[in-house]
Formats: sequence, structure tokens, C-alpha cells
Amino acid sequence: MTGGDAALWQGFTDFHSHLFPAVDDGSQSVAQSLGALAQFAGQGAATCLTTPHFDASLTKLPAAFAARLEAFDAAWAALEAAHAAYEGPALPRIARGVELMLDDPDPDLSDARLRLAGGPFVLVEFPAMQLPPNAEWAMHNLRRQGWRPIIAHPERYRNHDARLTVLSRCRAAGAHLQVNAGSFLGQHGERARTVANVLLSLGWIDYLASDFHARGEPSTAKAAALLARRGAAAQVQRLTVENPARILSGDGPLPVAPVESVQARSWWGRALARLLGER
Ligand SMILES: [Fe+2]
Repeated sequence: MTGGDAALWQGFTDFHSHLFPAVDDGSQSVAQSLGALAQFAGQGAATCLTTPHFDASLTKLPAAFAARLEAFDAAWAALEAAHAAYEGPALPRIARGVELMLDDPDPDLSDARLRLAGGPFVLVEFPAMQLPPNAEWAMHNLRRQGWRPIIAHPERYRNHDARLTVLSRCRAAGAHLQVNAGSFLGQHGERARTVANVLLSLGWIDYLASDFHARGEPSTAKAAALLARRGAAAQVQRLTVENPARILSGDGPLPVAPVESVQARSWWGRALARLLGER
């Protein structure tokens, strides 16, 4: 990585991580969360919006809903206090949201704690790494209520067809797409890496984020450097800095230009078709 490359993502906003201490499969302590934030600072992050797992179905179960959010509030308060008292090198600013598992396609998102920094955007995923055939219905539904769904790591779903039909319908319904930085490094397997590259070549990715679980290191800088080396410097800047920052001001993402040439795009398309056993 060169210093010039690193400037591309300097001041980035990461909005997908699991750094609320001890509420999900991410960080298990305040100290671990602070360590993770220090790693983000080392990579140039200005802001980390952290997003513990939350089941959408809880919004229909008042007692369970209150209990889960109470646990989140306590963890968040502990993290905020430790962040404020931290005396080492400057840490990124922190803000909260959730990664909403759409086990119910029609959740009530009126509680601001379920949305990214309390604004209109909500980070969503679907159960069992399968994109439901009618996923766009949930996207329409959220948009109709004034929310802006961002689908987390679409490249990781295991049931895409070679034309990415369902994802295409979700985009048409107004959903935005957040790819995990680590997918470009093969951290979620070859299929996810291939789909991530196809999405990049199509210009469908709106955001890159880390989905960091406080193990190892955030993948942001390595993935951004890799894409910059492949000639996607302008896209890297938009995917890591510009578009994520717009979430905090309530603005939608700016378009991201397709990365590969037409030939390369068809190469990735063929690779995806091969991977999925289609011709
Ligand atoms: Fe996540």
C-alpha cells in the first residue's frame, strides 16, 4: 500500500460492525471494543457506526423488544463512557444502529435505535444466507414507510442466479447495497468474492463496510488498496468515504461508476455463471 492510496479512504465512515460489548457474536468486552476502534483509527476511520444483530420479529413482541434494547442501551452506555475517557491516540467518533435480520418482512422501525444514527437508513439482512424470492416486497414496504434499506453483504447470499434477478428487483425497489470489504479478499469464500466483483463491475455497490467482529483486523484498508491497484481509485473514495458519510446527513448514495471494462464484465459474468452451474 502506498501513502497515496491510503489518502483515498482517509476519514472514512464505517457503518457495519459488531462493537457493542457482549451483546452478540462481536466484541465481548469494552476493552476489546476500544481496541477495535483504535484499529479503525489506524486505518483512517473518522466515524464508526456500530450495528449489533437485532431480529425484526422482536418489533412485534413488546416485552422481548424492550429487554433486547435495554441490553443494547447498557452496552452502548458503557462503550460511550469508555470512549469519552480514552486517553490514547484519537479514536473515531462513534454512533449506533443495528443490523436488522428481516425474519419479519414488515417490522416497525419507529424506534430510532433501530436505524443508522437514528436517521432514515436501516441496515438489513435476510435469514439463513438466502435472499427470499420476494425480497423486494420488504424493500418496497420499508421505502413506503419512509425508511431507506441498505442490504448488508448481498454477495454472501448463496442463492443468486447468474442474472442476480432478486437483487436487481431489490435495487429497483429502492434498496442500497453494502458489500463487505473482506469479500474482495476472499474472506467469505470464492463465491462471495466473485459476486462482489460482479457487483463492482456492474456499478451496483453503494457502500463498502467492514462487518468487523473485533477479531483480527478490519478489512477496509486492505480491500480499498486492492481495488485502488485495480484502477478503482475514484470508486474506493466514493464507497468508503463519500457515500457512507451521506448516511449521517440523511442523503442517499451517489452513483458509483462500473469498474471493469465490458470485456472484463463479461468475464466476471461467465465466472459467476460457471460458479452457479449455469450457462
Ligand atoms: Fe454484520
